[in-house]
Amino acid sequence: MSRPERAPASAVCRRQPMIGTNMKMTMTPSDAASYLATLRDLTVDVADRSLFVLPPFPALAAAAEVLAGSAIAWGAQDVFPEDSGAHTGEVSAPMLADVGCTYVLVGHYERRRDRGESDELVARKAQAVQHWQMIPVICIGEVAQADSAKLGFAPVRRQLDALADVDLSRAVLAYEPAWAIGEGSTAASPEWIRDMHELIRRRLDTSHTEARGTPVISGGSISRESAAQMLRQPYVDGLFVGRNALDPLNFSRIIHSVSPGLAERHEND
Ligand code: PGA
Repeated sequence: MSRPERAPASAVCRRQPMIGTNMKMTMTPSDAASYLATLRDLTVDVADRSLFVLPPFPALAAAAEVLAGSAIAWGAQDVFPEDSGAHTGEVSAPMLADVGCTYVLVGHYERRRDRGESDELVARKAQAVQHWQMIPVICIGEVAQADSAKLGFAPVRRQLDALADVDLSRAVLAYEPAWAIGEGSTAASPEWIRDMHELIRRRLDTSHTEARGTPVISGGSISRESAAQMLRQPYVDGLFVGRNALDPLNFSRIIHSVSPGLAERHEND
């Protein structure tokens, strides 16, 4: 298998806010095709924010077709860490590269919870994705809500430390506290997000010096009401939206509600 000749690291740009959605297991390929076509048309005017969507595996072909020539990047929600072999039902990085994925999500809380995925496995997946010239979107986040961000940071620091062998200059980090994810949860406060993102950035500055330009985006019950305020917090480089992006009109409203003023703020970092 030969690696595709692409340089998607250029898609990692901290100057433009990144706004993406994890579509989870919500749409058939036909549903996803019409969702993506609507989203594409609703966001055609958006030139100063990097948009991405992560449909389920069977809908990746639809994404390739519907989003061809558009500014919306797309990718997968998971990957197996080995390139090929007797692993029934799994999908490998070369397969995802071959269909044209730019991004691959690894380490989402729901996989850590449902499949017992370890930090070590998440790191191997991220490396496999990078080996095939794609960009891992690596999820980090504590499970239990702590009394202070300082206490809540310990598990996140361990997750970051487990990425010691991953080149974070070619990655996106998504901070999503598990307690803020999904139906019935509420988003973390802007102050919490601010404190955690600052702790993450400080840790990267000391233990992952290559990650200076790596975007760290924020997720967990992001809504139209909270999006702009979240993105205004220092060191928040973008947003990762789940259920509030399932209606393309609502997602488009979230995208349009945030200003790309972030670019200037990071210019002198
Ligand atoms: P949510 O999902 O916005 O529905 O909380 C976020 C995520 O799991 O990435």
